[in-house]
Amino acid sequence: MTATSTQKSATLISHSLTDLSIAAEQLLAFCGDVKIITFSGNLGAGKTTFIKAICKKLSVEDAVSSPTFSIINEYRNNENIPVYHFDFYRLKTTQEAGDTGCADYFFSGCYCFIEWPQIAESLLPDEYVKVEITNDNEIRTINATLINRA
Ligand SMILES: Nc1ncnc2c1ncn2[C@@H]1O[C@H](COP(=O)(O)OP(=O)(O)OP(=O)(O)O)[C@@H](O)[C@H]1O
Ligand SMILES: [Mg+2]
Repeated sequence: MTATSTQKSATLISHSLTDLSIAAEQLLAFCGDVKIITFSGNLGAGKTTFIKAICKKLSVEDAVSSPTFSIINEYRNNENIPVYHFDFYRLKTTQEAGDTGCADYFFSGCYCFIEWPQIAESLLPDEYVKVEITNDNEIRTINATLINRA
């Protein structure tokens, strides 16, 4: 399916790693100007892999990997603009998340991709896109919803 930025939600399907690049393009079209994107889903659902595909669309040439130990990874695109990738899996409280300084990044105007966002939810801007990934064997269903709490 195609997704446009006027829709409040979109469902994208990935059958394999090869069609993730199309899903990444569709997600970016859906997000429009919104650059804060959270990624939920079970362990191994495909959050990091999808973020990798999105970064590729954004011309990020740095190696995209799970920031499990660092909490925050910073990449640069081909115009040297930062892209931030967070993984809050190991953190336990909102305060710990806040202590990483993530709010500064969320309001920096740069893309922020956030895995395991629950504990940082209250730190997010009012408007963001929530992506939920479910996997059934090789088939990934990617649901994107525009959240606006303002
Ligand atoms: N769309 C896809 N098609 C086929 N395989 C995929 C797809 N997405 C992810 N995978 C495979 O699933 C495995 C787990 O993916 P990934 O690390 O992206 O999950 P995750 O949701 O980030 O996990 P975690 O919860 O540990 O952060 C990897 O081996 C990856 O290659
Ligand atoms: Mg991951």
